Amino acid sequence: MNLQKAQEKLKEFGQEHVLKYYDELSDDRKKSLVAQVLDTDLSVTKKVTNGITEDKRGVISPIKAMTLDEINENYDDFTEEGLSAIRAGKVGAVLLAGGMGTRLGSDNPKGMYDIGITKPVYIFERIIRNLLDVVDASGTWIHLFIMTSDKNHDATTSFFEEQKYFTYNPEYIHFFKQDMAPAATYEGLVYMEDKDKIATSPNGNGGWFSSMQNAGLVDLIHEKGIEWINVFAVDNVLQRIADPCFIGATIKRNCTVGAKVVRKADPDEKVGVMCLEDGRPSIVEYYEQTEELRNTKDENGDPAYNFGVILNYLFHEKELEDICNNELPLHIVEKKIPYMNDNGEFIKPEEPNGYKFETLILDMIHMLDTCLPFEVVRNKEFAPIKNKTGVDSIESARKLLEENGVEL
Ligand code: UTP
Repeated sequence: MNLQKAQEKLKEFGQEHVLKYYDELSDDRKKSLVAQVLDTDLSVTKKVTNGITEDKRGVISPIKAMTLDEINENYDDFTEEGLSAIRAGKVGAVLLAGGMGTRLGSDNPKGMYDIGITKPVYIFERIIRNLLDVVDASGTWIHLFIMTSDKNHDATTSFFEEQKYFTYNPEYIHFFKQDMAPAATYEGLVYMEDKDKIATSPNGNGGWFSSMQNAGLVDLIHEKGIEWINVFAVDNVLQRIADPCFIGATIKRNCTVGAKVVRKADPDEKVGVMCLEDGRPSIVEYYEQTEELRNTKDENGDPAYNFGVILNYLFHEKELEDICNNELPLHIVEKKIPYMNDNGEFIKPEEPNGYKFETLILDMIHMLDTCLPFEVVRNKEFAPIKNKTGVDSIESARKLLEENGVEL
């Protein structure tokens, strides 16, 4: 029965090759392949066969950010507001750790990377320590939701257990897996990773809220009375999480979402910048920034699009529920996809060989009505680890951690 359903689904999307080895598989492997076919969203492959068209952007104009001066003037007021929201249990945090971290080149989850010099200092450990600062200041445990993927879930959860959650209260840590998307050839045919397995990868960092819903965690959020969710990336080891001042500022300014931003180091820096698009908050990714946009000045002669996002957002939860039924745009990204060739051999390509399908968290911002770009001091809150060496690397992050008094 299920086999028939799987065959029909594969036919509908022109993916019949998935069952090429079906007859020679053991019963267990047959079952698991059929289950994967039924579970996987194959409709994404249609995007390729229908021809890739980038969505046209609306009219871009500058957005006003809350700058350091304004933040400093109101620091105590904002911080008090934020702390009282935390003490009332209204704030939760979501760590996005479902990515593959391919640029770092380690097989383990990125958060397990040891950036220490004289002693082990793990990326996950830095994140937990940063959150513990706020737990100490507020005297309140904060629920932390950790998004993993099929590829790194077991490694991540065992690591936290082994490390005794870096002294965090395990009752306040909740792991959930993000949904996966198939990877396809340039012609839109899904790759196989094995005779009984379609090649899949995490469906992008925009999948976090729907994955939380699928995992039943939005019910927990309601039950606990959490109203604000601070979402952040695994790879910025300096960021402040559940930052009371940021939370207070977003609440006091009546915004649906707050976005931590840094002033761009130079016009060509590879960060997405905040803007308005057709009057709504939005982000222009670095590869979409035109010469004209980079050189536009505001009334004071400063660059008008000067605030880059660092993937640290504070969302008002209720509005996320309102937007989650609207589909996020699907980004089709060229990547190196390991696959099984026609002779049944496993190949790890050196060059990109197809597409992955991802949704991005930055597209959620555009669906919301109001956003507060909140400036932070770059050298105190932005030390991303993307690469092994050079820009945004282990080396640059170590230097910044030491500058901030962290012993490595
Ligand atoms: P990146 O865009 O840097 O992707 O993720 P990545 O997979 O970690 O690294 P590369 O590109 O393969 O080298 C930004 C943040 O979003 C999370 C990552 O874990 C990181 O915290 N992310 C990304 C997910 O949680 N899921 C995804 O599908 C993609």
